Amino acid sequence: TDRYAVIGNPIAQSKSPLLHAAFARQCGHDLRYDAILAAPDAFRETVLDFIAAGGRGMNVTAPFKLEAAGLADTLTERARAAGAVNTLKFGPEGILGDNTDGVGLVGDIQDRLGVSLAGRRVLVIGAGGAARGILLPLLRARPADVLVVNRTADRARDLADAMAPWGRIQGGPLSAAGGREYDVVIHATSAGLNAGEAPAVDYRVATGGLAYDLAYGGDTPFMRQARDRGASRVVDGLGMLVGQAAESYRVWRGVLPDVRPVLERLRPA
Ligand code: ATR
Repeated sequence: TDRYAVIGNPIAQSKSPLLHAAFARQCGHDLRYDAILAAPDAFRETVLDFIAAGGRGMNVTAPFKLEAAGLADTLTERARAAGAVNTLKFGPEGILGDNTDGVGLVGDIQDRLGVSLAGRRVLVIGAGGAARGILLPLLRARPADVLVVNRTADRARDLADAMAPWGRIQGGPLSAAGGREYDVVIHATSAGLNAGEAPAVDYRVATGGLAYDLAYGGDTPFMRQARDRGASRVVDGLGMLVGQAAESYRVWRGVLPDVRPVLERLRPA
């Protein structure tokens, strides 16, 4: 039985064991997938113990995604661009670090929601780790342009500069989003979690446009804000969550599981 696990702290809330068990059933694979709690200073030794016990791969969640990038012997281009690793694969060539978050998002937007990103005007709100994790796959989908806005404007400018080789992207303060219409608005800040408010950004969503919150868990403050700004389709990040897991499964086992039936089972009726 091949062994996999998700590692984080805390870890009890993780849906990864459930998702990967569903994928394994779907693919007819015999595997074991655990949730592993690592002490804040014990990430490296916990991973090495898991490898020694025969582990084939891991998902990595907060607060270890940066440390995982440091631990990997090789990084994929999308992991390097993200500056973070959510997927580790263990093999004879050592430890591979990958990041499947962006592909999970783009797949959810294009394949499941049926919104093509090519030629679209995209606004990303936030310039922290979550935003950075999605930008390379987003730019690969060839949008007309991407504007990244952030409370700390310099962080958005630096991120846009770093991503400029891959496409048309600019960064600025939250106010830079005002007075324009976007086809797709992606919310990637940590504001609005725990009953907070979404950042006050004065965007407008084009007719038929999509608003996407990377956070999930029902109707978020950003989702309510985006409806006020004209978005006709408004979703949370549950589809991205399942999509990044499916892409991790593909990295490990070479088969891409079908996201849809798993996502449908997760959604509250
Ligand atoms: P994550 O990995 O969730 O992105 P992070 O790297 O700490 O976490 O980034 C948090 C993001 O949420 C940043 O874009 C942050 O803005 P700053 O760079 O200005 O800190 C944003 N954020 C957090 N709280 C916010 C708030 N109350 N209003 C606006 N933006 C906020």
